[in-house]
Amino acid sequence: MTTSTTIDNRWSSEFKYVLAAAGAAVGLGNLWKFPYIMGENGGGAFVLVYLFCILLIGIPVMMAEVMIGKRARTSPANASATVAKESGGSSIWSLLGASGVIAGSLILSFYIVIAGWAAAYIFFGISGDFLATAGSEIAHKDEIGALFTGLITDTTQLIIWSSITIIAAMLVLIRGVNAGLEKAVTYLMPLLFVLLTIIMVYAAATGNFGEAAQFMFSPDFSKLSFDGVLTALGHAFFTLSLSSGIMMVYGAYMPEGTSIAKTSIYIAVMDTAVALIAGMAIFPIVFANGMEPSAGPGLLFVSLPIAFGQMPLGTLFGTLFFIMVTFAAFTSVIALLESPVAYLNERLGLSRAKATIVAGCTIWALSLLTVFSLSGAPWAQDVVMGLNFFDALDKLTANIMLPLAGLFTAVLVGWVVKENITREEFGLSEFAYKAVMFCLRYLSPVAIAIVFLQAVGFISL
Ligand code: PHE
Ligand code: NA
Repeated sequence: MTTSTTIDNRWSSEFKYVLAAAGAAVGLGNLWKFPYIMGENGGGAFVLVYLFCILLIGIPVMMAEVMIGKRARTSPANASATVAKESGGSSIWSLLGASGVIAGSLILSFYIVIAGWAAAYIFFGISGDFLATAGSEIAHKDEIGALFTGLITDTTQLIIWSSITIIAAMLVLIRGVNAGLEKAVTYLMPLLFVLLTIIMVYAAATGNFGEAAQFMFSPDFSKLSFDGVLTALGHAFFTLSLSSGIMMVYGAYMPEGTSIAKTSIYIAVMDTAVALIAGMAIFPIVFANGMEPSAGPGLLFVSLPIAFGQMPLGTLFGTLFFIMVTFAAFTSVIALLESPVAYLNERLGLSRAKATIVAGCTIWALSLLTVFSLSGAPWAQDVVMGLNFFDALDKLTANIMLPLAGLFTAVLVGWVVKENITREEFGLSEFAYKAVMFCLRYLSPVAIAIVFLQAVGFISL
């Protein structure tokens, strides 16, 4: 049994690394979550805060995480400790990597359920379920609403779809980094961009952007609560796949000579673009149909099918759209699963296949908590602060675990790691280096601490 070996898997090129990392980043967070939390938090002001969080906190923390993985070339728990010890820090930093593996696994437990919704919607699309059959627009809206409610309360269907999702991801990961992960993203990512472009052109041709643009881009700060600021901050971590061990693992597979800064910016820009495009596709329909922007997690699954059902070639585009959502989700699912797999593989010396089976089955079992939260099973409701398991897991990860781990990542790379090492790994010009380090040393920790303490009620501003 080996306990601590270094990783010798590598992406075959910088481009493949960017594809894989963008595949991890772009997912349900962009297409499903961002639009609905933006809707719940009043639009423009939320978007603005979110963009600042991506730029000033998300990108620097991503660079820090990737650097840790690349420097140590081990799985997350070992990586953070290795990098800390190299600079004379404590091995307690291994907790940072371990917390990422736990957060990633918790996220995956509900992520596969939502990915399952998207997969089910492909078949709704194919069978023409989005089409208006009832005659009136109101009746059509009700039909689409009933389709969604019917799905999310159907325990058997949800279990089938989430099982298929996790099994498919396990099959990819068992094959390893190059034959599995890399091959999957090489095909899926270009397809995703093609589909997204088609949907965008289609939305531009048929939708009305005016009100949506107004909603998304004219900030009204009276609509944004502190809780909304925490949601924006937490989502910046979620959407960039930070604090979940993933960027450390993917960084560990990075070929030598890859620029950490440049690739991090590419990934963040792609991710942000997809999120904004998703908003611009959804909100015109929401407003045109007099729906509530604050409809919650069903927003994507209720608004777009209404539009698809009323538009020419709607069945075709609706089906394509949900194929795209499913692909985007799937590349994130394999990333989320890779983090516990790499951990079990390295820490406990399990073979890749065994590690994949153990992690996959555990997460599958955890996913039942979300399934039963949605189906209304009484034991799954009101677990903490009135939240069901699904909402509790979402809040625990996005609003607590991810920002806190981000704070510690910033502190580790900003304060513990020696300057010659960060300079060498980042390879930036003097000015850029200073700017990134300022974000890691001061801005990120202070901003995260303030937002966090305020939101949990420790300080009031
Ligand atoms: N970034 C992914 C998304 O936006 C979700 C994710 C979170 C993936 C954490 C990996 C790790 O959908
Ligand atoms: Na994302």
